[in-house]
Amino acid sequence: KKIVLAYSGGLDTSIILPWLKERYPGVKLVAFAAELGQGDELKGIEEKAYASGADEVIVKDLRKEFAEQYCFPMIRAHATYETDYMLGTSIARPLIAKHQVLVAKQTKADAVGHGATGKGNDQVRFELTARALAPKLQIISPWKDPVFIEDGLTDRETAIDYARKHKIPIDQTKKKIYSRDRNLWHISHEGAEIEHPDQEPEWKKCLVMSVPVEKAPNKAENVEIEFKKGNPISVNGKKLAGHEIIELLNEVGGKHAVGQTVLVENRLVGMKSRGVYETPGGSILYEAHKALEQLCIERELYHEKLNLANRYAELTYYGQWFHPLREAIQCFMDKANETVTGTVTVKLYKGRALAIKADSKLSLYDEQLASFAMDNYDITAARGFIDLYGLPMQVRGLKHKPKI
Ligand code: ARG
Ligand code: SIN
Repeated sequence: KKIVLAYSGGLDTSIILPWLKERYPGVKLVAFAAELGQGDELKGIEEKAYASGADEVIVKDLRKEFAEQYCFPMIRAHATYETDYMLGTSIARPLIAKHQVLVAKQTKADAVGHGATGKGNDQVRFELTARALAPKLQIISPWKDPVFIEDGLTDRETAIDYARKHKIPIDQTKKKIYSRDRNLWHISHEGAEIEHPDQEPEWKKCLVMSVPVEKAPNKAENVEIEFKKGNPISVNGKKLAGHEIIELLNEVGGKHAVGQTVLVENRLVGMKSRGVYETPGGSILYEAHKALEQLCIERELYHEKLNLANRYAELTYYGQWFHPLREAIQCFMDKANETVTGTVTVKLYKGRALAIKADSKLSLYDEQLASFAMDNYDITAARGFIDLYGLPMQVRGLKHKPKI
């Protein structure tokens, strides 16, 4: 038996390597790690994986693909889950799972495994992607294996004990155990005091990509972003690859405490959970993209797009990135974004990112039409329009005594 494990070097996946060796005697373990811009988390990951029992370690740098084939399509859709969650973990899982499946084919493995728990969304994202892309591969999910529970592995504290017993190198201590997930797009923090909605998060302890808002500079800073067909292509006049754009904007946004949210969200598996999210670059990009869509997209198309963005976000959050409905909605979003080309300036100041000006050759904004001046405007047309548009309400008003 050969299993490709989606390996992050974190606590939940580290203990799985030795555990799988005990659970399936003779098993060959391939630890697969995706470089998605998770800072220095990948430092020493190969040694760590071997020390934990891996037979083979494969690390792939997926930053460019992540930015351009996952984050950017989501920007074009302008999707957020339950208004405030910018989907940073949801959008990364299908990419990791896709490459995990590719590694399984390449190494002739017969199973893929992951370290997500049975109470979260991530298990669904890993497993639905594997089912969609490699329907015959076996999926191994230790946190849902009754033997795992029998071995006393029921939470992060017992996982730490297990790691110590098996001499697995981990950073966690029992005091500071946020569950975090970081990539180019965001970092999420769950657990510890964040689990109590009646408590303010301990910002200084928690924040990683950005400063607490009290520490943000007193001077505002502007960034200029250029888009082509809804995709960001340059920052402050400098053309950059997708992941470089996000990295750069994370840097400036983080300095100004941009993109922090605290929210209680509805997980797919039913419960509500609370998280702190930092999405500095993504928040700037969304703000800029919105300003350009406002200029360039026709009204009815825009309204339909807003409705579909919600469905798109649900599908992404629910692990259905490779669902044909997400793909079909993507075609709609991309078509609607064909005219979203131009330049936007965003002002960053004390946690806020505000688009302050935008310019596009394809803008539908007409200064002559928008101004209050009535020249070249047929006012009788406006009267006729309202006569007919208001007719049904007027007829009803005449037939029924309006209650006022
Ligand atoms: N609640 C967020 C989501 O479902 C973040 C999950 C973070 N995952 C993790 N393994 N720490 O997308
Ligand atoms: C987990 O339970 O593995 C992390 C949280 C989530 O997937 O929602």
